[in-house]
Amino acid sequence: MNTKLSVNINKIATLRNSRGGDLPSVVEAAIRCQMYGAQGITVHPRPDERHIRYKDVKEIKPLITTEFNVEGNPKYDSFVQLVLDVKPHQVTLVPDSLDALTSNNGWDTISEKKYLTEIISEFKKAGIRTSIFLNPDVKLVSHAAETGADRIELYTEDYAKHFLINKKEAIKPYIETAIEALKFNLGINAGHDLSLLNLKYFAQKIPNLLEVSIGHALIADALYLGMEKTIQNYLAELK
Ligand code: PXP
Repeated sequence: MNTKLSVNINKIATLRNSRGGDLPSVVEAAIRCQMYGAQGITVHPRPDERHIRYKDVKEIKPLITTEFNVEGNPKYDSFVQLVLDVKPHQVTLVPDSLDALTSNNGWDTISEKKYLTEIISEFKKAGIRTSIFLNPDVKLVSHAAETGADRIELYTEDYAKHFLINKKEAIKPYIETAIEALKFNLGINAGHDLSLLNLKYFAQKIPNLLEVSIGHALIADALYLGMEKTIQNYLAELK
């Protein structure tokens, strides 16, 4: 099974926003990433629009020929409305606070189960696939399934951090969580700090990994290798 590569283009927006204007264009980035072989585009609009703006998300949607994944915190009504308006293929729910530099935790699917069940049912009614961001913790999986989510996205920061020290230990909780997720028929995505260094091992070890979303390292690699070569390199790691 080939794991799909969804390129997170938030960093392109961050670069654009640093100077105002429209350079580099996030619309062009989405088109080119797909042209170069990416099997999906991910955006993570935050209510303060410091990276991708809501307007970008609306402009990008009609240009998506692959899969559009919109990530964000549904506790902000503006995010929920955006997703319902744009109707991406997938919404990934992330409990990030406004001031977090980047996503830094998964859902507590026990204390938040009622809330997640309600909001997931709203997205499902609109025909949007739902995925919830999850720490690698077996205990959380059955509760994640009870929310009605289609998939989980494994939060891989911890894996990336410990990969260089002991990759076997680093991947262990992720394998256990993935095996548990399969028992409940949950699809498995993953993301955060995945890179050319640690991606192949992760994809080889996690059963039925459907999709990875990668931004920071991939865009950094593209500075030196170019976007086309970079995407090819990431795809090769997933074969
Ligand atoms: N998944 C989620 C939920 C994220 O918030 C992010 C970062 O925005 C990613 C994946 C991608 O992480 P990275 O930019 O480190 O590749």
